[in-house]
Amino acid sequence: MKQRILFLGPPGAGKGTQAEILASHENLLHLSTGDLLRAEVKAGTSLGQEAAALMIKGELVSDDLVLAIVHNNLSHYSGGWLLDGFPRNIVQAESLDSLLNQLKQPIETAILLKLEDDLLIERLLSRGRADDNEIVIRHRLGIYHEQTAPLIAFYQAKSLLISIDAGGTVDSIAMRISKALS
Ligand code: AP5
Repeated sequence: MKQRILFLGPPGAGKGTQAEILASHENLLHLSTGDLLRAEVKAGTSLGQEAAALMIKGELVSDDLVLAIVHNNLSHYSGGWLLDGFPRNIVQAESLDSLLNQLKQPIETAILLKLEDDLLIERLLSRGRADDNEIVIRHRLGIYHEQTAPLIAFYQAKSLLISIDAGGTVDSIAMRISKALS
């Protein structure tokens, strides 16, 4: 089983849900930049205050800030991991590559969760997180298509990409992922 995996996909595709399941089955560290940022916001740190103003509008937080968080979490960790919500653009992907090259821990697989926009919006509206109202969701989707979707070709070119249909029940998607990884 692969030990260094990242999840790609639009907001609401189920990256967090599926990453949690896989991380717990395979005993991998689940690193969600969204969750780590929300923890900073909750703790009221200066980093959290800076992030909160952007997150509520559905804007990406600065690359430097997110890269520092990922660096802190991975540079002293030698086990397997699963990245969820990172990288979000080409700059982050290239910085991640150079960090992982230094650590001699390259990515082994990038799992792309695919779902149509209408279903994504429906899922997120029923969750109701602070950034889950229709205007902000559509903005997050726009940023995904513009800045994050180019990572599909980036990881395809490295022969690391696996595409998974993210429709259906949580369990059926988990089965598809586990089959694709075996
Ligand atoms: P982040 O927390 O990463 O949010 P996101 O990418 O918008 O992803 P979501 O959590 O909305 O969706 P998901 O794909 O994880 O789906 P989930 O499993 O939760 O980022 C939030 C913000 O933080 C960003 O906008 C940005 O500001 C900042 N940020 C984070 N990372 C950053 C980075 N690297 N660089 C810069 N800024 C960054 O599921 C969604 C809902 O659907 C849940 O309610 C779930 O229960 C439900 N669901 C899941 N699967 C199914 C299913 N099969 N059927 C029905 N419902 C389902």
